[in-house]
Amino acid sequence: MKIIFLGAPGAGKGTQAEIIAGRLGIPTISTGAIIREALKNGTEMGIKAKKFIEAGELVPDDVVIGIIKERLAKSDCQNGFILDGFPRTVPQAEALDSMGIELDRVVSIEVPDEVIVERMSGRRVCAKCGATYHTVYNPSSDGVNCDKCKVELTIRKDDAPEVVKSRLEVYHSTTEPLKEFYSKKGSLKLVDGVGSVDEISYRTIKVLEV
Ligand code: AP5
Ligand code: MG
Repeated sequence: MKIIFLGAPGAGKGTQAEIIAGRLGIPTISTGAIIREALKNGTEMGIKAKKFIEAGELVPDDVVIGIIKERLAKSDCQNGFILDGFPRTVPQAEALDSMGIELDRVVSIEVPDEVIVERMSGRRVCAKCGATYHTVYNPSSDGVNCDKCKVELTIRKDDAPEVVKSRLEVYHSTTEPLKEFYSKKGSLKLVDGVGSVDEISYRTIKVLEV
């Protein structure tokens, strides 16, 4: 299955993508995670992306389209994939079309801005494996370290309240119009993203019919 997860920053795309990808045995491709890894490794792309990501702005289309082209060409994508955080602009969605990718479903996880702010303030991530936790809603077993890697959890730089504000603005002005783009194609499904992680997984599995 070829699936896109749309949704505001902090809507739970990464959390649900990990669960659903595990269930379907397909990879999750998160452009945000790929860019953060490049940033950590100090690659040319990471250096280019740094100022955008830290300001809560979108990285230029040509950079992310390049990332996706390269990633989708890998053999593990042959039986499907979940795109988490791509596309985020209409030109990115058009680039996906022009690559001849036929999508099975586009799922938009719907969460109001007030709930987003609360989720972002409690998010903790593992800098080693990228696993995501929440201090209240999804804590690691000891509340300090990653369950898998046992390294101390960190706060994403772009989760600072002023950056979250600009990420939400960018989402509403630039990414949300993609809902209309995919609705016209008949592939869009909306999922109410307010509730427990398990509840949202249940709703997502239902609309995906998997
Ligand atoms: P990216 O990493 O994609 O960030 P984002 O879209 O802003 O989304 P997040 O990862 O912040 O949230 P999420 O929806 O995955 O939520 P999560 O599951 O973590 O992108 C970062 C940046 O990279 C962008 O700002 C941009 O600069 C750049 N970029 C990336 N892709 C790009 C593109 N295509 N074009 C241009 N630029 C691009 O959940 C959030 C928190 O809530 C966690 O703590 C989690 O544990 C908790 N939580 C999850 N579900 C629930 C629940 N049901 N109840 C309570 N808490 C929950
Ligand atoms: Mg994410």
